[in-house]
Amino acid sequence: VTVVAAHDGADPIDAALPGPDRLRVAIIGIGLMGGSLGRALRAAGHVVIGCDLDDHRLQRAVELGAIDEWKPSITAAARGADVAFVAVPVLQVADAVVAALDAGAAVVSDMGSVKGPIVDQVRALRPAALRRFVAGHPMAGSEQTGVEGADPSLFTGRTWVLAPTPETDADAYATLRTLLASTGADVVAVEPDLHDELVAVVSHVPHLAAGTLMRLAADRSADAGVLLRLAAGGFRDMTRIAAGDPGIWPDICAANRGAIVSALDEYLAALGEIRDLVAAGDRPGLFHLLEQASRARRNLPVSAASAGPLVELRIPVPDRPGVFANITTALADRGVSIFDLEVAHSAEGGAGVLVIVVAEEYVERAEQALADRGHTCSVHAIG
Ligand SMILES: NC(=O)c1ccc[n+]([C@@H]2O[C@H](COP(=O)([O-])OP(=O)(O)OC[C@H]3O[C@@H](n4cnc5c(N)ncnc54)[C@H](O)[C@@H]3O)[C@@H](O)[C@H]2O)c1
Repeated sequence: VTVVAAHDGADPIDAALPGPDRLRVAIIGIGLMGGSLGRALRAAGHVVIGCDLDDHRLQRAVELGAIDEWKPSITAAARGADVAFVAVPVLQVADAVVAALDAGAAVVSDMGSVKGPIVDQVRALRPAALRRFVAGHPMAGSEQTGVEGADPSLFTGRTWVLAPTPETDADAYATLRTLLASTGADVVAVEPDLHDELVAVVSHVPHLAAGTLMRLAADRSADAGVLLRLAAGGFRDMTRIAAGDPGIWPDICAANRGAIVSALDEYLAALGEIRDLVAAGDRPGLFHLLEQASRARRNLPVSAASAGPLVELRIPVPDRPGVFANITTALADRGVSIFDLEVAHSAEGGAGVLVIVVAEEYVERAEQALADRGHTCSVHAIG
């Protein structure tokens, strides 16, 4: 294994840079997420510079192929980066994002599981730089922990949320989107606060519920060791996520407390409802409730992406703050996945054309979503 020296002055990879599609990417925090992203981006041909508080982890990250080299500070890692990702615990994210913005990284994103408070903090600390920051959250996890568990295919076919704001620069978003697509992720735009409400239901409460159920069974197993051996597929499916790294959860619960408490209250009320049906021996009531759940579960899409022919929507965009986030989130609200996105600037500057690629089957929905927000578009088949 060749370990590339960290901060000895010479930069061993500069000579190989840059092909037009080969980006210089900084990753701050090389744990499970940062390490997985590093491995995925290196496999896609990009150059990855790591930074972490723990030098031992960085050495391991080089040995495991998660990074090309490492730097001793966020500033050194992010300086000259085309894109910098922050993959540290949620409550540390905003400060690290600010450091990466200050170092001059062209685009900065993060991988934190909560978005609203991070965007708010960055907006308060560096309002002028917010255009270069696009908050993000890969909806992917693993029971593995740390860089040792890093998996380059972790993001393949998984949804990666980007949370553009009215300040977001369309070019920054497009660069990030294209880079993330090279990991195999399906990128979806969702507003930061809406993201937090939704993940409370589909990610945070499930984790807390799985942990609780697992604890309940483990307590019983002290009396009857055979119980956990009886644990069949259903129990294993429902508690698999409880094996994940507990370290990230106190931060997530602190940062998204309001939405998680609301979702837990709804869950408790729903458990109370089903408890009462069981207690009352209400067979039709129980059947009805579980039948609804069964139907909803079977209708859950396997992936946000859809196959089939693609078309290009060309949308003239005025030079007005918020237009870009307005369009990407309008499409996401209607369930329209964006396959590719580019900004064609007009020669005079100012206004330009946003080129968005979507599945042909979603064209009408996309046109309607755009019309609702006062935009027109022309539609072109691709290929
Ligand atoms: N693990 C998951 O399932 C999952 C899924 C989606 C998003 N996330 C988010 O990704 C982020 C990272 O999670 P993880 O599971 O990879 O955690 P992790 O603990 O495996 O890795 C975090 C790394 O960041 C480093 N670090 C902490 N503070 C730092 C700082 N100020 N500067 C530089 N390095 C620092 C730590 O030393 C560690 O190596 C979190 O914000 C988490 O919410 C995690």
